[in-house]
Amino acid sequence: MKLTKEEQEMLDGKHGNAVRKSMRILVSLGEIFGAEKLIPVKSVQISGVSYDNLGDAGLEFLEEMARDGKVKVPTTLNPAGMDMENWKALGIPEDFAEKQIKVIEAFEKMGVRTTCTCTPYFVGNRPGLGDHVAWGESSAVTFANSVLGARTNKEGGPSTIAAALTGKTPAYGLHLDENRKAGILVNVKAMLDKPMKFGALGYVVGKVLKGRVPLFRGIPKASEDELKSLSASIVTYGGAPLFHIEGITPEKVDIPPETMEVTEDDIKKGIGELNDTDDAEFIFIGCPHCSIEELRAIAGFLKGKTVKKELWIGVARPIKKKADSEGISTIIEESGAKFACDTCHVVAPLKGRFRTIATNSAKGVFYGRGRNNFRTVFRDMEGCLRMATE
Ligand code: F3S
Repeated sequence: MKLTKEEQEMLDGKHGNAVRKSMRILVSLGEIFGAEKLIPVKSVQISGVSYDNLGDAGLEFLEEMARDGKVKVPTTLNPAGMDMENWKALGIPEDFAEKQIKVIEAFEKMGVRTTCTCTPYFVGNRPGLGDHVAWGESSAVTFANSVLGARTNKEGGPSTIAAALTGKTPAYGLHLDENRKAGILVNVKAMLDKPMKFGALGYVVGKVLKGRVPLFRGIPKASEDELKSLSASIVTYGGAPLFHIEGITPEKVDIPPETMEVTEDDIKKGIGELNDTDDAEFIFIGCPHCSIEELRAIAGFLKGKTVKKELWIGVARPIKKKADSEGISTIIEESGAKFACDTCHVVAPLKGRFRTIATNSAKGVFYGRGRNNFRTVFRDMEGCLRMATE
């Protein structure tokens, strides 16, 4: 890989230990993937933030990097293993909380904006068309590439930290034009009228994509909440972290020769496959984290009702603050539902606490099954809320 004089000095340790280590990570990655050079990034979203994933070895690495490492570009974090303020209300053990706080302190020392969310694009980390970034969480990566037209590979924890501390990433994969072309045209012959159906579409199509980039045709409109649901599921079930939708997403691509069709029956069948059972003891909404519009809808439903099951609502803290100012949070909390700011049902230490989960997220189903051994119920948001209150 060709390095500039400054990059070579960074690699040689002239800019300190954290930068030297970061450059080593980036150069190795670039060499593995055949990158010719490093390119500057406009922002970073660091993944691998939960102590549940990091363990003590991960925490030690972060503390070492924090000794002399400082971020060069605006950087936010993926969800942590707990709500950083209200972890006790979510039943998080004290020893876990202590370690998780140390993780966040290390990031803070590096100058990271410690907002922990998989929807950084709702809270100010929102790149534009053609911007190169280095993001880690798969749904956020897919949203950035597809909906915003930014350019990022699905980075791992260490490479996001390395990008943040140097402001650079190797130029390969989805940073290059040739890898952003559509590989299959997907004719959608189904009515997609809610986020959960977009999640089901991602499940149905993701399973057969084998890494190809789809170009969807036949979707007349889609809200950002619907696109975030599709972003989360398509990449989870096997797609590349990029899709295009004719008339909706910003990048213009050629129509590929290969085609497939998705019908109403395919979506119905997909929804059926995401259900293991029809009742759940734990309900999670906000995978990916809720938008303010979703919180308004949740408050509208829960107003005057009482939640009878454990119901968590995943959200970025700045969005929760907005909800506070609108009086929505009070309505939601008065019902007995709990906000899970900064965290989610997948990265929190929940194994063994519940046997069944209901969610409106196809991605949530995948990880509920795979990571926590939950049996799953897949419903739209209203269906989940009904289950929580009836
Ligand atoms: Fe976000 Fe957690 Fe879902 S990181 S996309 S809420 S699994």
